[in-house]
Amino acid sequence: MKENIQKPGIDDQTLELLLAKMEQKYGCDFSQYRRGTIKRRVYKRLVLSGVSDCQTYIHLLEQDPEEYKHLIQDLTIKVSCFFRDPYVFEFLARIVIPEIIKTKEQQHDRAIRIWSAGCAYGEEIYSVAILLIDYFEHKKKDIENFDIFLFGTDIDEEALAKARRGIYEEEAVLEVKKRFLDKYFVCKNGLYQLKEEVKRLVTFCQHDITSSKQISPPIGVVCNYDLILCRNLLIYFNVPLQKQVISNLSRSLNPGGYLVLGEAEFLFKEFEPLFDTLDLRAKVYQKKGER
Ligand SMILES: C[S@@+](CC[C@H](N)C(=O)[O-])C[C@H]1O[C@@H](n2cnc3c(N)ncnc32)[C@H](O)[C@@H]1O
Repeated sequence: MKENIQKPGIDDQTLELLLAKMEQKYGCDFSQYRRGTIKRRVYKRLVLSGVSDCQTYIHLLEQDPEEYKHLIQDLTIKVSCFFRDPYVFEFLARIVIPEIIKTKEQQHDRAIRIWSAGCAYGEEIYSVAILLIDYFEHKKKDIENFDIFLFGTDIDEEALAKARRGIYEEEAVLEVKKRFLDKYFVCKNGLYQLKEEVKRLVTFCQHDITSSKQISPPIGVVCNYDLILCRNLLIYFNVPLQKQVISNLSRSLNPGGYLVLGEAEFLFKEFEPLFDTLDLRAKVYQKKGER
């Protein structure tokens, strides 16, 4: 006879209550994330913490703040790797980075400002740092002639702690070209440690991209970015939230600045007057306007 296993229950009302409590207590607003993903993730936490329903889980969260960290980690999906979607990074290396630097030189502007929003464990922004170092070396230009500000932000503090350490498993570096791997990583006991010359270029800070209070990370001070990567994050949001985030990102970019979205993400029609599509496959858009 089949054993009668009771599945934990999540009714919509209690789920809303859980999300409202998370926002009240921790300032993280998941209310506009796609419901299907949220339900599946909360369900996983219920099963792993051995509770039978969402209401009991809310009590558990109140007594055990550690569980909150697990919940955030499960609500946010952190699949990433260095040079994820190599075509995008080729495009950045061949077109975007040289263009940014050429413009800076013409304008006698020393500051290069790049932001990876939803940076997971830092793989994406460190990949950009490697491309920048490589560009300067290849062109025999001195990187010290520029003030380079690379920011990686994520909602998940634990992910940022790992990003700051800069130590990765082999799967994270499978797309890294051998010459970059040899030059910028030290392999020890099967793990890949990024060298200081790459790490020192990047600052990580916690930032919720859906926040209405801070449209760009507070460490950025001013928000005139030359390049923003916001890849594989919008897909978790409902359409109104995606539009709000794109609108904030477009305000954070310099005229002529570049926005890179993920493979399954796109610029909505209403933003088309603000951007030129530079490469549809790489999802690279350039903000219009005088630089
Ligand atoms: C799938 S990863 C994408 C990583 C990287 N951008 C890439 O494309 O490889 C999505 C990241 O967005 C973060 N995230 C989710 N919601 C966020 C929010 N509201 N604000 C900032 N980061 C968020 C997650 O913690 C996760 O690290």
